[in-house]
Amino acid sequence: MLNREDNALLCEVGPGTPMGRMMRRYWHPVCTSAQLAGADAPPLRVKLLGENYVAFRDSHGDVGVLEELCMHRGASLALGRVEDGGLRCLYHGWKFDVRGAVLETPNQSDPKYRARMKAPAFPVREEGGLVWAYVGPKELQPEFSRYAFMEAEPAHRVVLRVNVACNYLQLVEGGEDSSHVGVLHTNMARPGWKENDFLPNADVVNPAALASNDLDPALKMEETAFGFQYVALRKIDKVGVKNARVVPFIVPYGRVIPAPAFLFTVLEVPEDDTHTSTYIIVHGHAPVSEDKIVELLGLDDTRYYDRKTCAFTASWADAFGQSRERMKDSWTGLRGVEVEDAAIALSQGPLYDRSKEHLVPADQAVMRVRRVLLDSVRRVMDDKPPIGVGVDLRGVGACDAQLEDGASWQDLVPTHREVAAA
Ligand code: FES
Ligand SMILES: [Fe+2]
Repeated sequence: MLNREDNALLCEVGPGTPMGRMMRRYWHPVCTSAQLAGADAPPLRVKLLGENYVAFRDSHGDVGVLEELCMHRGASLALGRVEDGGLRCLYHGWKFDVRGAVLETPNQSDPKYRARMKAPAFPVREEGGLVWAYVGPKELQPEFSRYAFMEAEPAHRVVLRVNVACNYLQLVEGGEDSSHVGVLHTNMARPGWKENDFLPNADVVNPAALASNDLDPALKMEETAFGFQYVALRKIDKVGVKNARVVPFIVPYGRVIPAPAFLFTVLEVPEDDTHTSTYIIVHGHAPVSEDKIVELLGLDDTRYYDRKTCAFTASWADAFGQSRERMKDSWTGLRGVEVEDAAIALSQGPLYDRSKEHLVPADQAVMRVRRVLLDSVRRVMDDKPPIGVGVDLRGVGACDAQLEDGASWQDLVPTHREVAAA
């Protein structure tokens, strides 16, 4: 349980809030590269931490992120024309390049005005199929943190974005909570549940496939340079052989989930206090198809997910597409892993009041997420760098494997020990 003040401290991300200040110290994804496909692609309105920006790709293929409203008199640049190396405002034709230089002011031909102005533009990187921006204080810009998925061959990687209309922390807490996997995702985690028989899910791409029928895993955790890692230990047989599922929490909103042959990196990026962009990046050492991932996640139902706008639109209007008929064979009557996760987070409301919850030891990872986020906020309040900022994240992974007797779970992802502050 959290008191109302701490709940607000954790959930509110707008400018000037303590969490908003802490989050602004990191680089964030603002859209996928595919959303700005091709030179002079249409500009994209993007929202991050309660503020609006426009992202665009110029004629040379470079991406810029500017404040959304034109520096002249505030028309939205998302309506603008992208042409000849810049983004042009429709209202009076001022044209800006990706770094914010004012290239033309057709309604004011004297160049001295444009020469002394610069549009609010932000540092941008394009890596791993995502466009990243840094919108924090200039003098505190950190190293760009690289993830393992950025090293994967493009054919071995799928990048998806799902826009969900609820606070980021509901999605983060769901993602870090190991004990829900064997319950909410019953059909994928434990096929055979109807017959009370455990059959492992043979799909090597499925992140909800579990090696055990144990619904009450023992949790252990450990602090790391990027946040923390924890293990869920599930009994496999009566002699005490255990399965270990190791998952990291990357401050401020990242995790990596193991599938048998791939890793799912998931970033819950707050657009504002009640909207989140979930970026799901799947990578491994073999080709992986986007259609397959979309289907696995349940996002192939075009009533609820639009691959172009990335909007997830399932709602109470039709109970998130839940089918009571299907529930005879499906635990949830919902479709796919992401639909189950997003529907549960949405069902908690746009911003869940945690003063009414009842936590038990199975929720330890959720408690730890809150603690590490509050620690990071307090560090920024004390003029210290937030947790894990600038860290090279290429060694951050996840694992689901049998733990040999006497072996240490931390050795399952040995690179976590090597990840250190840059
Ligand atoms: S408002 Fe954009 S050019 Fe005038
Ligand atoms: Fe889940």
